[in-house]
Amino acid sequence: MRPAMRIGVLVSGSGSNLQALIDHAEARTLGADITCVVSNNPDAGGLDRARAHHLPAIAHNHRDYESREAYDAEMVRILREYDVDLIVMAGFLRLVTPTLIDPFEGRIINIHPSLLPAFTGAHAQADAAAFRPRIAGCTVHYVDEQLDHGPIIIQAAVPVQPDDDTDALAARILTMEHRILPQAIRWLADERISVQGRQVHLTPDLAHNAGFAHNVPALVQPPLENPF
Ligand code: GRF
Repeated sequence: MRPAMRIGVLVSGSGSNLQALIDHAEARTLGADITCVVSNNPDAGGLDRARAHHLPAIAHNHRDYESREAYDAEMVRILREYDVDLIVMAGFLRLVTPTLIDPFEGRIINIHPSLLPAFTGAHAQADAAAFRPRIAGCTVHYVDEQLDHGPIIIQAAVPVQPDDDTDALAARILTMEHRILPQAIRWLADERISVQGRQVHLTPDLAHNAGFAHNVPALVQPPLENPF
């Protein structure tokens, strides 16, 4: 029996994506254990959620550091202390540098609230609400040195309604973030993901088995599998 994959979750805000991961971890459906939660914001709601579930909650305040590199070097030390296999950025609003990326090459993923490459950056939902596309959504992707740029693992699309404001659209996107992020982690934990250049492969790709397709209010590609 392979030991469970150990994930370190980085948050900056309320931590609703973290909560989705905690719920799946506690239900033993994530395929991974959360070994630590780290936030650049000492007041982040995500740290309170971690504490409520008896997880190590570390406030690592970027204001205490002169440079991004110094901040990231300490982040690496913390993540190694907790023996992290995979870094999950779940609403983490800091740019990371090669100081963090290089030691965790290919082992950092991020959830972004747009259908990348559309609407990169820190205001994706507002930018989408202003642009009025017919479809918006969210993306789980690998983190590389460019912002919101690494190979894409899974995406979910949701409709943009004519009367949507930013909050309404963000809420609709968020419901799917809470499903595709744990799904991506489960696939990684089950060693079903491989990457060739920008192409991410899921094997086996059970999309052809209708039994695994849910009736979801969104297009999810690759389709979600039980219990997500
Ligand atoms: C989410 O839409 C996330 O993608 C963005 O911030 C929002 C809140 O995330 N970065 P959370 O509730 O802190 O997980």
